[in-house]
Amino acid sequence: MRYQAREVDIDGRVRLVMENALTARDRVGVQDFVLLENYNSEAAFIENLRRRFRENLIYTYIGSVLVSMNPYKELEIYSKAQMERYRGVSFYEISPHIYALSDNTYRAMRTERKDQCILISGESGAGKTEASKKILLYYAVTCPAKDHMDTLGDRLLQSNPVLEAFGNAKTFRNDNSSRFGKYMDVQFDFKGAPVGGHIVNYLLEKSRVVHQNHGERNFHVFYQLLEGGEDELIKRLNLDRNPQTYNYLVKGNCPRVSSISDKNNWKTVKNAFSVIDFTEDEVQILLDIIASILHLGNTQFGEGEDGETHITTEEPIMSLEKLLGVDGSALKEALTHRKLTAKDEEMISPLNFEQAMSARDALAKAVYGRTFTWLVEKINQSLAVKEEIYQSGKASTVIGLLDIYGFEVLQNNSFEQFCINYCNEKLQQLFIELTLRSEQEEYETEGITWEPVTYFDNKIICDLIEEKHKGIISILDEECLRPGERCDISFLETLEDSLGCHPHFVTHKLANGKTRRIMNRDEFRLLHYAGEVNYNVDGFLDKNNDSLNRNLKEVMCQSENKILRHCFPREEIFDQKRPEMAATQFKNSLMKLKEILMSKEPSYVRCIKPNDCKQPGKFDEVLIRHQVKYLGLMENLRVRRAGFAYRRRFEAFLQRYKPLCPETWPNWHGPLADGVSTLVNHLSYKPEEYKLGRSKIFIRLPKTLFNTEDALEAKKPEIVLTLQTSWRGYRERAKYKRIRHAVIVIQSFWRGMKARRRAARRRGAANLIRRFIKGFIYRHNDYCSENEYFIDHVRRSFLMKLSKHLPKNVLDKNWPTPPPSLEEASEHLQRLHLCNMVTKYCRSIQPEWKKQMTQKVAASEIFMDRKDSYPMSVPRLFLDSRLEREQINLKVVQTLGTDKVQYGVNVVKYDRRGFKPRPRQLLLTNTFAVLVDRTKIKQKIDYNALRGISVSALSDGMIVLHMPNEDKRQKAKKGDVVLHCSHVMELVTKLALMSNKTSCVNVSPGSITFVIARGREGFIDFTRGSELRVVKGKRGHLLVTAPNINNT
Ligand SMILES: Nc1ncnc2c1ncn2[C@@H]1O[C@H](COP(=O)(O)OP(=O)(O)OP(=O)(O)O)[C@@H](O)[C@H]1O
Ligand SMILES: [Mg+2]
Repeated sequence: MRYQAREVDIDGRVRLVMENALTARDRVGVQDFVLLENYNSEAAFIENLRRRFRENLIYTYIGSVLVSMNPYKELEIYSKAQMERYRGVSFYEISPHIYALSDNTYRAMRTERKDQCILISGESGAGKTEASKKILLYYAVTCPAKDHMDTLGDRLLQSNPVLEAFGNAKTFRNDNSSRFGKYMDVQFDFKGAPVGGHIVNYLLEKSRVVHQNHGERNFHVFYQLLEGGEDELIKRLNLDRNPQTYNYLVKGNCPRVSSISDKNNWKTVKNAFSVIDFTEDEVQILLDIIASILHLGNTQFGEGEDGETHITTEEPIMSLEKLLGVDGSALKEALTHRKLTAKDEEMISPLNFEQAMSARDALAKAVYGRTFTWLVEKINQSLAVKEEIYQSGKASTVIGLLDIYGFEVLQNNSFEQFCINYCNEKLQQLFIELTLRSEQEEYETEGITWEPVTYFDNKIICDLIEEKHKGIISILDEECLRPGERCDISFLETLEDSLGCHPHFVTHKLANGKTRRIMNRDEFRLLHYAGEVNYNVDGFLDKNNDSLNRNLKEVMCQSENKILRHCFPREEIFDQKRPEMAATQFKNSLMKLKEILMSKEPSYVRCIKPNDCKQPGKFDEVLIRHQVKYLGLMENLRVRRAGFAYRRRFEAFLQRYKPLCPETWPNWHGPLADGVSTLVNHLSYKPEEYKLGRSKIFIRLPKTLFNTEDALEAKKPEIVLTLQTSWRGYRERAKYKRIRHAVIVIQSFWRGMKARRRAARRRGAANLIRRFIKGFIYRHNDYCSENEYFIDHVRRSFLMKLSKHLPKNVLDKNWPTPPPSLEEASEHLQRLHLCNMVTKYCRSIQPEWKKQMTQKVAASEIFMDRKDSYPMSVPRLFLDSRLEREQINLKVVQTLGTDKVQYGVNVVKYDRRGFKPRPRQLLLTNTFAVLVDRTKIKQKIDYNALRGISVSALSDGMIVLHMPNEDKRQKAKKGDVVLHCSHVMELVTKLALMSNKTSCVNVSPGSITFVIARGREGFIDFTRGSELRVVKGKRGHLLVTAPNINNT
C-alpha cells in the first residue's frame, strides 16, 4: 500500500504519514490558512506567506484554494517521483502542491463524473502560465494512456511553445508574458485517459505588433525567426538578422533578453510544429506572414507638395508582393487611400500621412491577430478528439484550465488594460458567485445558521463597465458609431455626462482636489475591486473600432497566401453588417467563458508574485499585500473560517467513512442523516465541531477531518482484508461450483456407461442361458443352429476339463468321460496322449536303463505267467555281470582272445549220467558261451548251434541248454547241458537275447526231457518243497525240489 510504503521514519519507528503531514503542517507556518489562529489579520496572513516563502514552501491552501508564490527559481519539487507521491492521495494528507490540486480535480472528475475547471489567476508574472503547464504535465505523465494518447499528451504539451512564441512577449513585468487569455479544455474518456483538447483564446494584445513600451519587446516569434531561422529561410523571406532593422521591433529598444534564448526557442517551436501536425508548407506560409509584418512595418510614407501621401520605400512592398502573393500596386494604393461607400457609390479618398501610417499599422495588427486565431484553430484540429472516440461517446468529462491575464496597472493604462481589468472583475465576480455567495447560499439552503461574512460584491463595477446602454462599453460603441466629429476626448465627455455620479467612476473634472492633482485631463479612473486605475482615453475609439480599410481588406482577400485567404474571407467585403466593436466582442466572449466555467466544478490557483524585479527570495510586502487584497484572499479565508472547512453530501460522507462504525458498515439502510449522525457519534465528534444540514454534513475544522481520515487510513488494511476474504470466498465458491458441476457431468456419463455395460452384459447372459437351455433340449439332434452353442460349450468344457486332468503317466488310466459327441475324438486323444507320454518317456531314459528294460521286456515275454519265481525277479535289476573281472581266469580270457566276455556267472553243472554237481563259470561272449572250470574252458557252446533252452515253471534254478543233435560225433560226446544257476532269469534272458533265441526258450510246466548222449534221453522231474534239493531219483531221473514261493 502506498500509504504504508512511506511510513517508516528515520528512527525506524512506524508512524503514519498523515501524522507527519500534520506535524509538518505546523512546522513552517501553517499549510492551510484556515488553521491560522487569527484568521482576520492580514498581517498574520502575510507573515505566514513570508515564513513559508523563506523555506521555499511556495504553496499554501485556503481550504481548497491553492495560493502559489512565484519562487523565481527552479525548485526540486516537480519531478516524476513527486508526481507519484501526490497520485491518489487525499488533499489534506500531504503538503500543499499544484500536483495535489491537479490530482484532486482529476479524481473529483472521475469519481463524481462532473466537469471540472481550474481557474488560475494572479497578476502578470505571478506564475499562472507556469502553473498551467505544471498541471498539464501532471496529467500527461500520470493519467493512463493508450498509444494514440501518448501523442496526445505530447501535443497538449507542445501546443504551449507555439502559442507562447506567437502570443507571449517580454514585458516590463514578465520576460514571458502571455499577451492573450487562454482557456484550455482537456477531455478525458471514461477510463480517465486524456483523449482530446480544445483551446479558446481571448483578446490578443495586437497593438504590441506595432508598438512596444520602452524595455519591452514584440511577440517572441519575430526575434526567434531572425535569430534562429536558417540562412536560406532568412534569404527567402528577404530578412535581415538584425532586429534593429525593423521599425516594429525597435520601439522598446530591447532586442535581446538575457533570460531568453531565441535561438533555442526557435528550435523548440519548429519541433513543436511537427508534433502538432503542421505541414512543412503551412509553416512556410505562416513564416511568410510573420516576415511580411516586419516588411510592412518598414514601409515608409512621404508627403507630396500638395499634401498627398505616397510610399517612399519600394523594397518592402516588393517583399510583401512576393511573400503574401498580393498585387504590389493595389497594396500601395490601399495603403494610401480609403475606399468609402456612400449611397451605393464608391469613393476613393486619399489618406494623409498619419492616416496612412495608422492604416498600415491596422493592417499589421489585423494580419497578426487573425493569423493568431488561425493558429489556435489549427492547434485545435490537432488536439481534437478522434472521430471514433467522439462517436463512441467515450470522451466523457473535461477539465478546463483558465490562464488569463491578471489585473494590470501600468504607468499609462490604455484600452487593453481596461479590457484586462474588466476581465478580472468578471472573474472575481465569478469567484464570488461560485464560492462566497454559493457558500452562504448553501448554508441557507442546508438550514445551517452562520454569521454572514461581509465581502465586497463587485457587481457594481461590472455593471458600470458592461451594462447595456449605460455601461462604459456601450457608450464607447455609441461614440464610435456616432456620426459627425468624434474623438477620444468627446468619448470622455460622454462618459462624464452619463456616469458622473457613479461611485466607482472619477475623471479629472469630477475628482476632488487631491485626486485631481494626480490625474490627467484625458484620463478616467475606475475604482476596481482590487484598486484604483487611471485609464488614458487616447486611442480608445480606434482600438475599439479596430477597423481595417475596405480596400486593404480587398487586397488581403486576393492574397495567394492560403492562411490569409482563410483569415480574410471574401464574404466579409460584401457583408454590409457592421462587425461588433472590439470591447463588445470581448464582453461577449467573457459572457461565454463565464457560462463555460459556471457549468463546471471550479478549483482555484491564486498566484502571487513576490517582487517586481523577478528575483528569487525577495519578499516585497507592499506588493504582496496588494495582491492578497485584489485576489480577495482574506475574504476567502474569512468565509472559510466563519463557516465550515469541509462539507460533503450525506451519501458521499457515509460512503467514505462508513467502515469506521460497525452500525454503518458495510451498509446503512436507514435515512442518510441518521446514518451520518450515528457515524459521527461513533467517531466522538463534539457538537461544536460539526453540523448536519438537510443533505450535507459540515465540519468546522480541518483537524477533525484529518483525524477521521487518519482513522480511515488505519482502518483500510482491515477493510482490504474483508474485501479480499469476500472476494476469495466468492472466487473459490465459483471454482468449487464449476468443479462440482464437472464432477457431476463426469459421474453421470460414467454411471450411464457402466449401467449400459451392465445391461448389455445381462442381456448377453440371458441370451446365453436361453441358447444353453435350447441347446440342452436339442442336444440329441444333429448339430444345428439350435444346439450348436450347447454342443460347442459341452465340447469346449470337456476339452478344458481334459486339459486339466490329463493322465500324468502311462500307468494312470483315468480319463474324463467324454460327451457323446466327442467319444471318438476322445479315444483318438487318449491314444495320442498315451503315445505322446510313451515317446516322451522313451526319449528320456538312459542307454543302460534302456538295456535293462530290453532285457526285462524279453524276460517278461519269456517268463511272465509261466515261471513261479518270475514275479520275484521283476524288481531285481539284471547286472552286467555276476563275476568280477579278476574272478575270471586270465588264461581263459587270453584263450578267448578278441571275444570279450559280456556276462559271467557261477553255475553248477550236473553230469548227464550221474548228475554229479560240478561248479563252473558260464561266460557269454557275443557269439558263444563257454563253461569254464577254473583255468580251463570245458565246453564252448556256439549260439548258432544252440537248439533251445529249457527251464521249469517252478522256483528252482535249473537250466537245460539243448545242444544240436545232427552231428553224431558231438552228440556222442556231450549231449545237452544241465545247469543250476541262482540267477536263472537273468542268465536265460541274456543268453536268449545274445543268441537271438528268445523264441526257443521253453518253460516247462512238468518234467524236462534232455539228451544224455547218442540219442538217449534223461529227465528232470520237478516237485515243490520247502527248499531246493537236487538229487538223483529212482529211474535215473534228476529230481529237483523247488522251494515254495509266496507270490501273494
Ligand atoms: N513554479 C515556478 N517555479 C519556478 N519559476 C517560476 C514558477 N512560476 C513562475 N516562475 C517564473 O516566473 C516567470 C513568470 O511566470 P509566468 O509566465 O507563469 O507568469 P504569468 O502569471 O503567466 O504572467 P503573465 O500574466 O504575464 O502571462 C516564469 O517565466 C518563471 O521564470
Ligand atoms: Mg502567462
